[in-house]
Amino acid sequence: MTDPLVDRAREALAAAHVPYSEYPVGAALRTADGTVFVGCNIENANYSNSLHAEEVAVAEAVKTGHADFERLAVTSAARDGVTPCGMCRQTLAEFAPDDLEIVCDLGDDTATYTLGELLPNKISEGTLDAASQQREEVDR
Ligand code: THU
Ligand code: ZN
Repeated sequence: MTDPLVDRAREALAAAHVPYSEYPVGAALRTADGTVFVGCNIENANYSNSLHAEEVAVAEAVKTGHADFERLAVTSAARDGVTPCGMCRQTLAEFAPDDLEIVCDLGDDTATYTLGELLPNKISEGTLDAASQQREEVDR
């Protein structure tokens, strides 16, 4: 199986800082102009400050003005087809369309989903706009 984006995610995983879970994760995010941004999980002794691989890749991309996501590959050292967790799905949905392709690494194979399949009901700017409109109507 040769998927260059999965290969990038596998490489990224090598930098994971995972003394607590011992579960390294790597992510590679391809943006519209073909640039690939990678991330790995970075855990913390207080547990809750841990960064997920996808979050790190999104931050790397967005901070340099690359917010147009086309495809994401995710892998763990176990090659167990790990998918982005619920929090990471919502983070991706801030920037990516429902048809963002998410490729998950099963070792010899991959499982591919769309973001819309993994997160059918995202919170978006539209959700907040609708709520604010409702409040204005009540105030009137
Ligand atoms: N992890 C990720 O990096 N991405 C996900 O979306 C799933 C979970 C990390 C967090 C933690 O460091 C380890 O995997 C075990 O949950
Ligand atoms: Zn996550």
